[in-house]
Amino acid sequence: MASSASGEVKEEEEEKKLKQKQKQKQRRTKKESLGWIEWMRGWFNVIYEMLFQRIIASHLQNPLPLPPLSDLTCIVTGSTSGIGREIARQLAEAGAYVVMAVRNPKAASELIQKWQNEWAGMGLPLNIEVMELDLLSLESVARFAEEWNARLGPLHVLINNAGIFSIGEPQKFSKDGYEEHIQVNHLAPALLSVLLLPSLIRGSPSRIVNVNSIMHYVGFVDVEDMNCVSGKRKYSSLVGYTSSKLAEVMFSSVLHKRLPAESGISVLCVSPGIVHTNVARDLPKIVQAAYHLIPYFIFNAQEGSRSALFAATDPQVPEYCELLKADEWPVCAFLSQDCRPTNPSEEAHNVETSYQVWEKTLEMIGLPSDAVERLIEGEEVICRYGR
Ligand SMILES: NC(=O)c1ccc[n+]([C@@H]2O[C@H](COP(=O)([O-])OP(=O)(O)OC[C@H]3O[C@@H](n4cnc5c(N)ncnc54)[C@H](OP(=O)(O)O)[C@@H]3O)[C@@H](O)[C@H]2O)c1
Repeated sequence: MASSASGEVKEEEEEKKLKQKQKQKQRRTKKESLGWIEWMRGWFNVIYEMLFQRIIASHLQNPLPLPPLSDLTCIVTGSTSGIGREIARQLAEAGAYVVMAVRNPKAASELIQKWQNEWAGMGLPLNIEVMELDLLSLESVARFAEEWNARLGPLHVLINNAGIFSIGEPQKFSKDGYEEHIQVNHLAPALLSVLLLPSLIRGSPSRIVNVNSIMHYVGFVDVEDMNCVSGKRKYSSLVGYTSSKLAEVMFSSVLHKRLPAESGISVLCVSPGIVHTNVARDLPKIVQAAYHLIPYFIFNAQEGSRSALFAATDPQVPEYCELLKADEWPVCAFLSQDCRPTNPSEEAHNVETSYQVWEKTLEMIGLPSDAVERLIEGEEVICRYGR
């Protein structure tokens, strides 16, 4: 008698739990924007970083001292300007073989010439190469990866740095049909990371470093409307930018989980801080002038490159990433502008949305849902945009 009563109680409890879970699921799937508390907290973080980043990062040297890196092969996207330009130069000066993956090869070649001249007499000539990559074309991404993988060499560090924030501009679409922020800041780096897995495995232990932003804290991803065209949310460049950066964190978290520990590939996102670069080129002239007036608060590109350089080279990083993987922690490693691990936004911890972003992203970039597993097994994967 007693055992059947306790059985009924258990059943009731389980039913209650199930209903609660279903309700939570419904609530989560219905979420159409950030809650206002999350949104306020997000903006608080952005403003806090802007006002105090120099104090928070005061323990860091500038430039960040790097160990000798002559064993490393690194690809840096968007290395003709701003943070990426600093990352590429400093990696090369520390001895790494650096590939500048850029949409303007002529500008990159001129930079290399300048750096070689400045470096003359300080050591061996810098080992840098230029390869063309236009993130507004997924075909260009696939071509780049195919060309690189065909060399059958190792890749130790991929730095997905290139990004856009077309402040105040109207909504624009790539020739692939995707909103430009989501394509340049999320879809194209995601495709590049997956397609380069064979080379990253050859270079293992290796790292994928995504130059993300504290602005992902105010982002929200609507998986059904990644292009922001349904009218549910009013498009602005801020919406485009912040949601693309959040999508990148979510995709990276699932990629990090999907890569088995034996692959030896660490996936990280970093915030460079608020940095004075060409990213502000689209700002109205008056705002740009104000930007110049507050140099105390804003990092220069060298200061802004430190978190990515740290993520790419610090020997403790792979161990930390492994710990997160083993820990069932739902997000990948995220380093702050002061090179310390920090938590990505609350929304980035939404496991369900992260998996939806993962699936939707693979669909959008034309890869099968088991692409990562197949590439790890050494199988060939056909992508809609190339091999
Ligand atoms: N500056 C900040 O305060 C800040 C804050 C948080 C995060 N970030 C992130 O840091 C990263 C670097 O930005 P930044 O501030 O250094 O800006 P930046 O000076 O404008 O540099 C962006 C780089 O990305 C490249 N790029 C843009 N569109 C591209 C495309 N379609 N294909 C290939 N490359 C492309 C640019 O190439 P071109 O030289 O040919 O234009 C440039 O080299 C971005 O991901 C950005 O979101 C910046």
